[in-house]
Amino acid sequence: MKMLKRSAAALALCCAASMAQAKGTVEVLHWWTSGGEARAVGVLKNMLEQEGYHWKDFAVAGGGGSAAMTVLKTRAVSGNPPAAAQIKGPSIQEWAKLGFLTNLDPVAKKEHWNQELPPLVQKIMQYKGHYVAVPANVHRVNWLWVNPEVFKKADAQIPHTWPEFFAAAKKIKAAGFIPLAHGGNPWGDTTLFEAVALSQLGPDDYRKAFVDLDQNVLEGPKMVEAFTIFKKIHDDIDSNSPGRQWNMATHMVINGKAAMQIMGDWAKGEFTAAGKVPGKDYECLPAPGTQGDFSLNIDSLAMFQLKDKADIKAQDALAALMLQPKFQRVFNMAKGSIPVRTDLSMKSFDACAQASMKAFKAASKDGRLVPSFSQSMADSDAVLGQITDVVTNFFNDPGADPKKAAHQLAVAVKSAQL
Ligand code: GAL
Repeated sequence: MKMLKRSAAALALCCAASMAQAKGTVEVLHWWTSGGEARAVGVLKNMLEQEGYHWKDFAVAGGGGSAAMTVLKTRAVSGNPPAAAQIKGPSIQEWAKLGFLTNLDPVAKKEHWNQELPPLVQKIMQYKGHYVAVPANVHRVNWLWVNPEVFKKADAQIPHTWPEFFAAAKKIKAAGFIPLAHGGNPWGDTTLFEAVALSQLGPDDYRKAFVDLDQNVLEGPKMVEAFTIFKKIHDDIDSNSPGRQWNMATHMVINGKAAMQIMGDWAKGEFTAAGKVPGKDYECLPAPGTQGDFSLNIDSLAMFQLKDKADIKAQDALAALMLQPKFQRVFNMAKGSIPVRTDLSMKSFDACAQASMKAFKAASKDGRLVPSFSQSMADSDAVLGQITDVVTNFFNDPGADPKKAAHQLAVAVKSAQL
């Protein structure tokens, strides 16, 4: 009897495996390796496997994905790219222009993407009017994450402006806590700088500086002010921050070592994975001075050209499932983001996600929706690389001068366009 059971199990295993092979494989490159991110990518993997396809994981750790992009380039140049890769914003156009990406129009038509996606999102996912990538979500970058218990212990007020932030930080430090948890690496520094820049420039000048690359705004007085505040914030992070990943910083807020973190809402994925509830264990609010603004980051998978017919089917299946309501709900609840489809009910989402959707819709109407430069949504890799260098060098040099930094920023951005 036992033997019989065993061989039946072996048969099931063998056939599930060969069915998956027969139904094709999708290799997916991503950098979703933190607790919340891994839960979210697990949703995608499980849903694809439930349809009988095979998922080949190609994860390259590192917040923001610069390590992942380096690996992707090597694979693509050697003629062996994965089926799908997390590529975002203007880079989608660059990869399509080089002829690597496949046309997803048939899937898009069958699945009604044009009816489901906001026009702005459609544009980002298309090259010359054809879909080459599929979006997963909408992340807001300009968030402040707060541990209210630490504020209580320090008798400090949760801040909405930079002066309030510095006043709170003083009390928090005096009470023996770290005011701001920070993951000190070039991407983390740039993500923090973006929130400060948005607060000082406002959406119009932010766009002029980081989308139009306007020299006058890049080195203008508002940018100098942004660098001045950015420098001051350095006093409110701890000396162990260099080299720290963003999710480790989030855990400092979760476990009450630090009072705050400024980070996109993938940080919420960490709170959720730790079983924490907004409004009770933590608070989410716009980064100081950015109320009403929405710094937009969309995760998307660009699809590469493949030869194997079964693998192409698997790739199409992956693309199709990403905009289905169930995936959008379960994935985004784990990821900390909101659905990229604005027609879905937000009832089962938490208070932060509901606030994010509200802010997204309002900011889209008011012209306060801006592409996040720190998350590769505004510029070419070359321009972002230059911005990142200036920002991170400034932040890590105690003697650096804000006025000089703004000038360097303008020069560096110009040099990247030559
Ligand atoms: C962003 C990405 C997010 C999140 C974050 C940290 O660039 O869009 O999904 O993963 O990096 O890794």
